[in-house]
Amino acid sequence: MSKLIFILNGPNLNLLGKRQPQIYGHETLVDVEADCRKTAATRGLDIRFHQSNREYEIIDWIHEARDVAGGIVINPGAFTHTSVAILDALNTFEPPVIECHISQVHKREAFRHHSFVSHRADAVLAGFGTQGYTLALERLARLINGPKA
Ligand code: DQA
Repeated sequence: MSKLIFILNGPNLNLLGKRQPQIYGHETLVDVEADCRKTAATRGLDIRFHQSNREYEIIDWIHEARDVAGGIVINPGAFTHTSVAILDALNTFEPPVIECHISQVHKREAFRHHSFVSHRADAVLAGFGTQGYTLALERLARLINGPKA
């Protein structure tokens, strides 16, 4: 299985660190990417890290991942709760998909409790802060490299 992991981030996550820090914390997306690169390196994985405020770009990256990636970590932001199109794209991708939310969405407004992406995700993280991304990578490393890795 490919050791390349796509880490995809949806709308408003470019403002991480400045956006509602009481909910999303003070780390920026650049910090998150650096943490992910460190974890990936220790686990023998390679990553492509992307963020977009445009739904179609996220869909295009999922299509690209189909040919090259061994897993996807996705924080679709608000598209989580609205996007059948992202769900459909993920349904065309066979390797493991982990859905990652910085905040504990089930403790928040009712409209955040439903996720279209969860219909496809093999695992879901919510409320681990930005650490959720590296936890998701650790899990993918296990799935790809085996239990002793
Ligand atoms: C989020 C939760 C979503 O409800 C919200 O729209 C986001 C971020 C999270 O990481 O906690 O943009 O996905």
